[in-house]
Amino acid sequence: MKEQLANIRAAALSAFEGAKSKVDLDALRVQYLGKKGELTAVLKQMGKLSAEERPAMGQLANEVRAALESALDTASKKLEEAALEHKLRAEAVDVTIPGKPVDLGHRHPMYIALDEMKEIFIGMGFTVLDGPEVELSELNFDRLNAGEGHPSRDWSDTFYFDRDERVMLRSQTSPMQVRAMDSMPLPIRIIAPGRVYRKDEVDATHSPMFHQVEGMVIDKGVTMADLKGTLNAVIKKMYGEDTQTRFRPHHFPFTEPSCEVDVQCHKCRGAGCPTCKGEGWIELLGAGMIHPHVLEMAGIDPEVYSGWAFGFGLERTAMRRFKIDDLRLIFENDVRFLEQF
Ligand code: DAH
Repeated sequence: MKEQLANIRAAALSAFEGAKSKVDLDALRVQYLGKKGELTAVLKQMGKLSAEERPAMGQLANEVRAALESALDTASKKLEEAALEHKLRAEAVDVTIPGKPVDLGHRHPMYIALDEMKEIFIGMGFTVLDGPEVELSELNFDRLNAGEGHPSRDWSDTFYFDRDERVMLRSQTSPMQVRAMDSMPLPIRIIAPGRVYRKDEVDATHSPMFHQVEGMVIDKGVTMADLKGTLNAVIKKMYGEDTQTRFRPHHFPFTEPSCEVDVQCHKCRGAGCPTCKGEGWIELLGAGMIHPHVLEMAGIDPEVYSGWAFGFGLERTAMRRFKIDDLRLIFENDVRFLEQF
């Protein structure tokens, strides 16, 4: 019997150790320690032993059972650890695999041009203002000398919100002149960039939404010479010292005298080409001396103060700056186009 127990012990221990899985191990547990298992079978023969032999054999049998149980436990833990290790290894992140590149966006060419322009004006002591795109027609028109019946107020040109034509999408950034005069102390030096809206069909030079940069200076003794000098300095800073400009007489209701300012065409250098429609020049902005009545309506005495104002077309400015010949490219947001700047 002693020998039987020793054999069972040796066989069971080596079997447990060699088990490849928890399922195998469980089968071995039943085989050796189960109700019908090998150890139990031996224990059932205890009755046949003499009274003297029984205690020693009982103790030995208990020792063998304890050894088997502990070996079973160890084997089970070993299998669990191996399984965990395997799982971790399978799920491990390989930090040496190259990452997926993330495309970095960058500024839109029109905003690059705007930022350059802002910087130049800020350097000259101007303040940058922001204003509403939904505007009162009173500020967009009346306070700018474009009263009832002025052609720019027509429904065919302007997006109104109401039948009374009181609220509209601003058609120009010029109402920011009024907002500045109404809210700021004199002297005033401001620019005000932003979106404006007109009922235009889309083509190479038109869009129902586009951007302007309004500018205004009001002080004592301000003249048209200051306007010309300032605008020439800004344009040369943006486009290069050799840039030619041209000031043409024009009409705006809120300036007197008024002018339009052109730059020489970047494509043909003045010779005339499709980009400048054969003219050799590209119109960049409108400007002029602020009409005395506009100053009066804001409570500013035109006998003491004078001022000038201008409105750049921002798309045109960017197109000239980056030599872009179709306005639609600015709005289509085709990445192949945008990536070039
Ligand atoms: N607001 C005018 C337009 O949309 C542009 C303009 C012209 C603005 C003359 C001005 C100015 O401030 O003085 O066509």
